[in-house]
Amino acid sequence: MTVQISPSILSADFARLAEEAEAVKGADWLHVDVMDNHFVPNLTLGVPVVESLGRATDTPIDCHLMIEEPDRWAPAYVEAGAGSVTFHAEAAAAPVRLAREIRAKGARAAMALKPATPVEPYEDLLPELDMLLVMTVEPGFGGQAFLDVMLPKIRRTRALIDKYGLQMWLQVDGGVSADTIERCAEAGADVFVAGSAVYGAQDPAAAVRALRAKAEA
Ligand code: DX5
Ligand code: ZN
Repeated sequence: MTVQISPSILSADFARLAEEAEAVKGADWLHVDVMDNHFVPNLTLGVPVVESLGRATDTPIDCHLMIEEPDRWAPAYVEAGAGSVTFHAEAAAAPVRLAREIRAKGARAAMALKPATPVEPYEDLLPELDMLLVMTVEPGFGGQAFLDVMLPKIRRTRALIDKYGLQMWLQVDGGVSADTIERCAEAGADVFVAGSAVYGAQDPAAAVRALRAKAEA
């Protein structure tokens, strides 16, 4: 499994997004959290910011949509330049149709599960996805404590991916840090989102390297 690190700009300075993207050079992705104040109780940014950020950095954008009606809005994030677009299972009306549309428009299609959403009902949908995101906090805010109780779900998801021989990636998001990343990797995750652990560090690029080293160990 190849380890990938996706720093979340939710913990960055929104007035200096281009510089903050530059500060994590060497990361595989730039994780952009879109929140609509309906699906989650927080509001962040939308299509125009993703579009501008995409022009400002060479790092591909990993767009995490914490919004209602992703069927309606997700395609616009592909058009805005995101290389990967993640919608939430709890919000999507037609996840297979949506994943196919995201792929047809040229991005990787991913689906996210909130902590209380089991993976098993989605087993048959996995071949339609390029990545599954297992949330390890309740979505909405950075800086929350990692939920250890999600480790069995990560393990079960990895087992399903392996059972079907799928190439899809398994992402974790929420409370991922130098203290928790090894547990996630051991459970079978291979794409790691980290906000406060990267942007809260003195040297964000060094924090990315340190996280990668721990996940690969
Ligand atoms: C939370 C977001 C995360 C957030 C993670 O709902 O989806 O991407 O930025 O932040 P940390 O790494 O600080 O938990
Ligand atoms: Zn996120």
